Amino acid sequence: MEPREARRRLVHFLQLAHAGELGAALAYESHARTARTARERDDILKIREEEIDHRARVGRMLARLGERPEPALERTMERIGRAIAAFCRIGGWFLPMYGAGKLERRNIVEYEDAARAALLSGHGEFADDLLDMAEVEWDHERFFRLKSATHPMWRWMPHWDPPAPKGEIRASFARFFRGVSDEIALSLRSDFATS
Ligand SMILES: [Fe+2]
Ligand SMILES: [Fe+2]
Repeated sequence: MEPREARRRLVHFLQLAHAGELGAALAYESHARTARTARERDDILKIREEEIDHRARVGRMLARLGERPEPALERTMERIGRAIAAFCRIGGWFLPMYGAGKLERRNIVEYEDAARAALLSGHGEFADDLLDMAEVEWDHERFFRLKSATHPMWRWMPHWDPPAPKGEIRASFARFFRGVSDEIALSLRSDFATS
């Protein structure tokens, strides 16, 4: 991928994540009210805090790139977050847990993709922070999946593939990093040979 294309993808991802984390925080606020125990409510509120923290971190990355959040996306995700929050009030316990697990599964991959795009666009300094957020999303997916699986409805629902062990997030990025470095070394060597 060309660095310019990688940067475009990175910015687009960061704008999506910035807006998406707001939607998630709004949804989880309402979701926490459907909790069955105080412990469960606190766990969901902690996840909500972590999404707010992600939004701030992603916002700082956008600023460092000289970019800003995309207003239309922010509005759409806020609307979606509020719609899910309203659904949580009538949707009972299971469906919000199940939906959150599915969403978090996607978030893991999106932060991993962003870390790769950061590397390819010459912003490897963001990679560690993005991988850390992927790891936090991994914890979130696990929480919501294990909760959903305690409900009788779980066996009637389609199941998403659970993520690989958490360590794979850093391990697969390291493999990607080595692949990119090898490619750069190879092209430098061939430039040297032809000059
Ligand atoms: Fe998040
Ligand atoms: Fe999350």
